[in-house]
Amino acid sequence: MYSAIVPGAVPGLDVGLSHDLVRDGGPPLYQQIAIAIRARILAGMLTPGVKLPSSRELAKRLEVHRRTVVAAYQLLERECLVHSGVGQGTFVGERPDRLDDETRGLFSWEAFLRRPEGPADLWRFVGREGTVPGAIRFTGATADPTLFPTDDFRGVLDDAFRLYGSGALEYGPTEGYAPLREWVAERLRNRGVRIDPDEVMIVSGSQQGLDLVARLLLHDGDTVMVEEPGYPNGFRVFQAAGARAVGVPLDDGGLRLDLLERVARREVPRLLYTMPIFQNPTGLSLADDRTGPLLDLCGRLGMPVVEDQFDADLFYEGPLPRSLKASDDRGLVLLLGSFSKILFPGLRLGWLVVPRPLLPALHELKQMTDFSSGLLAQCAMDLYCRRGLLDRHLERVRAVYGARLGVMLKALKDEFPPEARWTRPRGGLTLWVSLPAGLDALDLWAQARREGVDFTPGPVFFPSGGGNGHFRLSYIRETEERIQSGIARLGALVKANLVRGAAPSAAGPFI
Ligand SMILES: Cc1ncc(COP(=O)(O)O)c(C=O)c1O
Repeated sequence: MYSAIVPGAVPGLDVGLSHDLVRDGGPPLYQQIAIAIRARILAGMLTPGVKLPSSRELAKRLEVHRRTVVAAYQLLERECLVHSGVGQGTFVGERPDRLDDETRGLFSWEAFLRRPEGPADLWRFVGREGTVPGAIRFTGATADPTLFPTDDFRGVLDDAFRLYGSGALEYGPTEGYAPLREWVAERLRNRGVRIDPDEVMIVSGSQQGLDLVARLLLHDGDTVMVEEPGYPNGFRVFQAAGARAVGVPLDDGGLRLDLLERVARREVPRLLYTMPIFQNPTGLSLADDRTGPLLDLCGRLGMPVVEDQFDADLFYEGPLPRSLKASDDRGLVLLLGSFSKILFPGLRLGWLVVPRPLLPALHELKQMTDFSSGLLAQCAMDLYCRRGLLDRHLERVRAVYGARLGVMLKALKDEFPPEARWTRPRGGLTLWVSLPAGLDALDLWAQARREGVDFTPGPVFFPSGGGNGHFRLSYIRETEERIQSGIARLGALVKANLVRGAAPSAAGPFI
């Protein structure tokens, strides 16, 4: 229907454009590209309906970053000079002098906000589908609200008010309530992390910590190494800071160091973001004998590490795996932790430990962001932790979640075909299933939801596409009976799809 621009077919678009660009000292490149294309549209050289080259193609030809072309197209779209259809491309629109009054100058928030498509959009799509009423939910890596210690917590809130009165309702210190910072530092020290309380900042959830780190350390065009599969809201934070998230695969021992080195030498990344303990989504941990080599490698590459310990206290079998920060002699590692998974997420409390040279800038950034995290919540949390109530709660939930994990693993063994594979975590919230070759997790997801079972399809966890053969199962929010029943229904669907013609898998679980 539309004629695509073939290199050289439209006079002046690619060849001319590249000559027009002033690369040093001129206006931003995306504006220059937009100006040049706008001029060609207004001159009638690019006629309505003509398909512009894909951003990737034009970026290659002009030797600019793809995001530069995307930004140029977005600018033109806001002016209604071009329009794009999801998965179709970008087309020249009607010339403004031919637009009717209604269309001319119409401001479109949709176009204004549009970003390049990617897994983040898939995440939104998966989320938008909503929950199926009554469905067995293996989605969401969040603690089971039926186990929240509401009575104990009401007690410490009352006590915080009694002890501190209206002082608990003031703005708190930017870096956080000192006794709670001390408690966090002491806990980490007991696990081999040598830090002082002044290196700990209390943040409004580790998600905020991640956002602060991204804003502090990343610049437009940077690259961040992430685990693949990995945490989608991590990718999105890095992308929002202008960086690209580039994935590195895992195996049973966690991050593949050989591949990390290979990709890092190519990409010259600014940071590594990793979850060495009970990773989201796989539940895997970094093997002990990879800790030293990983830190050596990052040291050689000059690449700081953001270690996300969002669920480290949820271990059900064996000792807690070792934190990277505990072996960090070079001061390369930033450490994130959270009360969300081990207790509950509603208070929005977590912590961020950074090397000393970063403290002043972090302080300033946190102040700009929200002055400080809620003081009353921090005072109550401090009492809760110091009275041993957190450890008591942890003992209880570890027993419940560990049993649910056991039921899920057994049900997978009993109900899934032998061609499927899955991880066997020793802690955390989720595990990762790899389907037999030829089966598609998005198809299975649609079928499963019709059968009253929900899970999170694999592509959501891949920053640059792929992951169709996998999905994540969360085992902590459903009862053992419902886990058994949900896995039986899922297993039956996988087998039915296999019978319909999928070949058995020879592939490893992650690549
Ligand atoms: C890997 C990971 N990091 C960080 C977070 C953010 O948690 P919060 O901001 O509640 O501490 C989550 C939440 O799901 C997560 O899965």
